Amino acid sequence: MDLADKRIVLGLTGGIACYKAAELTRALIKAGASVQVVMTTAATHFITAVTMQGLSGKPVFTDQWDARIGNNMPHIDLSRDADAIVIAPCSTDFMSKLAHGACDDLLSTLCVARPATLPLLIAPAMNVEMWQNPATQRNAKQLLEDGIRLLGPGAGEQACGEVGMGRMLEADQLLAEIIAWFQPKLLQGRRLLLTAGPTFEPIDPVRGITNLSSGKMGYALARAACEAGAEVTLVSGPTALATPYGVRRISVQTAQQMHDIVMHQLTSQSADSAGAIDIFVAVAAVADWRVANASPQKLEKNANGSAPALVFEQNPDILATVAALPKPPYCVGFAVESENLLQYGEAKRARKKVPLLVGNIGHDTFGKDDNQLVLFDANGHTHLPRAGKQQLARQLIAAIAARLTG
Ligand code: C5P
Repeated sequence: MDLADKRIVLGLTGGIACYKAAELTRALIKAGASVQVVMTTAATHFITAVTMQGLSGKPVFTDQWDARIGNNMPHIDLSRDADAIVIAPCSTDFMSKLAHGACDDLLSTLCVARPATLPLLIAPAMNVEMWQNPATQRNAKQLLEDGIRLLGPGAGEQACGEVGMGRMLEADQLLAEIIAWFQPKLLQGRRLLLTAGPTFEPIDPVRGITNLSSGKMGYALARAACEAGAEVTLVSGPTALATPYGVRRISVQTAQQMHDIVMHQLTSQSADSAGAIDIFVAVAAVADWRVANASPQKLEKNANGSAPALVFEQNPDILATVAALPKPPYCVGFAVESENLLQYGEAKRARKKVPLLVGNIGHDTFGKDDNQLVLFDANGHTHLPRAGKQQLARQLIAAIAARLTG
């Protein structure tokens, strides 16, 4: 579980987004965290302590003078064994209190009294005008300078009917941010481009040729790279998967489109101020051939029973093309084999001319949530034993980061 053994103090302040804190509590617990809820009086007007206790499975604290803690110092005791304090929702007023070090209720006192090493993450939630108010912006800047992490806010429709910045992030987005917080920033400042999923090669407007790739491994890698601090662009064939939070996704259908987008990303971005792409990971199961005589109209069944004669032509090999660029990014390929993985893996790495190739067995990976991998590089091969794809993805990102720096 992504947050196994993590102890989170979840603070709620007054705002309609308190309803999302209920969902966040469930999500945190499902991810393995324990959650200690602390609420301001204003928050209790939006959601009850009863609900939050029911969801967190722990008594909720709302009052500085609560006698349930032995030494009567909840503002000290509640944070001492915590791994992070998360304030969601964090109101304009509470941001102001944090920026000024106010201590006039349990939650604000708890934040000021937290150990210097204990991370404080806040999810602002307020009306667009309140967010844009110069005082709020001043406070936000101060909080960043003080090392407090701001999660969002997002933009969109607000409970008051107005539209703009100030919406609290959704529970699943906050969960992704909190999980990411705990991951080592192995790729901070790096730019990573990744292909994932299957491709779809049309036969006619309603039919086509595709494969069994679910995209799960590629999407897990995109998420892990993002968690590690990289700026991630995911070029994806058709999948049913949600884009990982923080990842930029460009959707394509065919191998040729995937090739064109990848080459455009590599050549246009190397010239702009954002800098070149550092790492290219080709996870997509790209069709080797496309139908050269695809029909612009739907093919009709022939009365005499004859089948259409499809003519195939070869698609570009995206990975090999990128690896052959004069100044290629660090290239990582994937290989799916049905047998002799160790022999084919090294041969494929040499043929594609990539520094790192990740091998897996076909019947073991497609559509599954777990996998086992073999990494081939110039020094031989290493095994990553069977684990969930997200866990493997984090290990693989660590392996890539180690090779980039070492
Ligand atoms: O040759 P094979 O298809 O087994 O190679 C697999 C690796 O090459 C994967 O990393 C895949 O994403 C990449 N590939 C590609 N373009 C192709 C075929 C494969 O980038 N046309």
